[in-house]
Amino acid sequence: MKLLQIKGETGDSVIMVGESLQNLKRHIPADRTVIITDNLMLDAYGKDFPSCEVIPIGTGETIKTLDTVQFIWDQLIQLGADRTAFLLGIGGGIVCDITGFVASTYLRGVRFGFVASTLLAQVDASVGGKNGVNFKGYKNMVGVFNQPEFVICDTEMLKTLPEKEVLSGFAEIVKHAAIADEAMFRFLEKNHRHALALRRDVIELLVYDSVVIKATVVNKDEKEKGERRKLNFGHTFGHAIEKTTGIPHGEAVSIGMRGAADLSVRKGLLPIQDAERIVNLLKSLGLPTEIQVDRQTVLDALAKDKKREGGRIHFVLLDRIGHAVVDDIPLDELAALPIIKPDA
Ligand SMILES: NC(=O)c1ccc[n+]([C@@H]2O[C@H](COP(=O)([O-])OP(=O)(O)OC[C@H]3O[C@@H](n4cnc5c(N)ncnc54)[C@H](O)[C@@H]3O)[C@@H](O)[C@H]2O)c1
Ligand SMILES: [Zn+2]
Repeated sequence: MKLLQIKGETGDSVIMVGESLQNLKRHIPADRTVIITDNLMLDAYGKDFPSCEVIPIGTGETIKTLDTVQFIWDQLIQLGADRTAFLLGIGGGIVCDITGFVASTYLRGVRFGFVASTLLAQVDASVGGKNGVNFKGYKNMVGVFNQPEFVICDTEMLKTLPEKEVLSGFAEIVKHAAIADEAMFRFLEKNHRHALALRRDVIELLVYDSVVIKATVVNKDEKEKGERRKLNFGHTFGHAIEKTTGIPHGEAVSIGMRGAADLSVRKGLLPIQDAERIVNLLKSLGLPTEIQVDRQTVLDALAKDKKREGGRIHFVLLDRIGHAVVDDIPLDELAALPIIKPDA
């Protein structure tokens, strides 16, 4: 097991990469713990949960709402949970986001921790202290910054994860390597097969390195003023593509990273060979790097982003593999990139 200590404004957090769900009892006050989990997780792993009260909340992005938050508050009251309660979210990013929000608001805040069970939650959602829910169709509209006391990343649990969910996590792993760690990028290039097979030593290293990168960036900029923007590499195009096509987040981000790499080459920042390495790595992990979609619809979605950012698009580019820079890009420069294939 590898440990990482994160010092946040709201408290410290320990990330345990390679710790097992079976050892959970060592980390929680079992008599005061209430588990929040999704129904699929309860079916698959409920037998391994410690004997605590459990609140199942359904599954999928549609449950990430204030209705679910209210449902949990209600259950906690019925269970007589007081300020000494410990809330433990066991699941993917959805369970973690909701659990952190509920724990931060119930009785003005109770202790909480996560067992992150998807690759995306392990390398991204459970790290950084953002918790919240969607509201009126807007993603992550309502929430708080607050750190869990601990996050357990049990990489054995990834073996039951559907392949497309695994891929989503790999997109964020490539993102972390591309913006901050050339050695990790090389390791991925060399070990992509082992990574995809979820070989324990390889995946633990990748999860750990990812967590270190995200935690380091977040430590410098917990409330997202500057440095944290680098974590949006691939996400400006990615969100626009995700919104207009409905493809999974990780796939959209993969295409977005290819777009951002191409743009970095056009700006004279990144050698073309490096952009090719990024495309090749994404492909070797089974991630897409282009899409056939109406160009104007994607540009319109990007323009909406632009409005939100006060007239400019803050775009994350690379000046080498392992180093990101943020630049303001006018929308028309984004129009001609090869990630969007011309309509057939
Ligand atoms: N807070 C943050 O900083 C942050 C960052 C990135 C993403 N997110 C949020 O994370 C959410 C997406 O998270 P996600 O991709 O983990 O989705 P998710 O939580 O819905 O999990 C995906 C699916 O996998 C199932 N599952 C989870 N663990 C499993 C396992 N070990 N074996 C088998 N099935 C398993 C779940 O039941 C679910 O159906 C989004 O709502 C996104 O906004 C938050
Ligand atoms: Zn993402």
